[in-house]
Amino acid sequence: MKKSSMLKVEGVSVSYGPVRALENISIEVDRREIVALIGANGAGKTTLLKAILGVQKVQSGKVLFLGDDITNSSTDKVANMGLGLIPEGHLVFSTMTVLENLQLGAYHNPQDFNDNLENVFESFPVLRKRIHQTAGTLSGGEQQMLSIARTLMSKPELVMVDELSLGLAPKVVSEIFDILGDLNNKGYTILLAEQNAKKTLEFANRAYVMETGRVVLQGLTQELMSHPEVRRAYLGSNV
Ligand SMILES: Nc1ncnc2c1ncn2[C@@H]1O[C@H](COP(=O)(O)OP(=O)(O)O)[C@@H](O)[C@H]1O
Ligand SMILES: [Mg+2]
Repeated sequence: MKKSSMLKVEGVSVSYGPVRALENISIEVDRREIVALIGANGAGKTTLLKAILGVQKVQSGKVLFLGDDITNSSTDKVANMGLGLIPEGHLVFSTMTVLENLQLGAYHNPQDFNDNLENVFESFPVLRKRIHQTAGTLSGGEQQMLSIARTLMSKPELVMVDELSLGLAPKVVSEIFDILGDLNNKGYTILLAEQNAKKTLEFANRAYVMETGRVVLQGLTQELMSHPEVRRAYLGSNV
C-alpha cells in the first residue's frame, strides 16, 4: 500500500541568534501514524515543533504539510490548514471556564462547534462534568486534557503534543496516552515530543531520537527500544 505522507520536514536548520538549535533535520509523519521525537532537555524538540508551526523561523530547508510548502508560513494559515500544537506546560486560560477555553480553541473552525464539542466531551468525559468550572482550579491532568481538547476544537489533521507527561503523575500520563491512542484510532495523526522516552516508545509507532539539534537515530519504536544506545541513554538500562 502506498504511504500517505502528511508532514515532511526536509533538512531544516534553525538558529537563535548565533546559536544553532536545529541542524539539517529531516523527519516524516504519515497519515494516522503516531511518531515521537525523543531527546533530553535542550535537544531541540520544541524548536522543531515551533518551526513546523511557523512560530520559529526556518533558516534553511523545507516543511511540507499535505504536499504544500508551508515553510515560514503564518501560524494562522498553518492552523487553518489543519495543524494543531498542544504546547508544553498544559497551558490553559486559568481564569476562564472550561467551556470558554474550548470556545477559544474553536477560533479556527467555528462552524462545527457543537459537533466538535460533543466529540471532545466523548474523549474527555471529565471536562463535560467540569464545563463551568474555572480552568485554573482543575487538576494538572485535567488541565492537560483541556489543553489537548482546546486544540482538538479546531479539528486538526495533525496533532503535535509537546511534553505531554511533564509534571504529571504516571497514572494520569497513562490515562492521557490512552485517550490519545483512541484519538489515533479515530483517525488523528499524532506527533509527540517527549523527554519521557520509556512511555513514549511504548506508545508511538516510530520515533526520531534527537541530540543537540540533530536526529541521531530513527526507526520503529519496537526496534529502538532494544537498541543498546537508546537503552543506555534513554531507558536507564545498564545492559
Ligand atoms: N528563545 C530561545 N533563545 C535562545 N536559545 C533558545 C531559545 N529557545 C531554545 N533555545 C535553545 O535551543 C536549544 C533547543 O531547545 P529546545 O528546542 O527548547 O529543546 P527541547 O524542547 O528538546 O528541550 C537549546 O540549546 C536551548 O537552550
Ligand atoms: Mg521542549
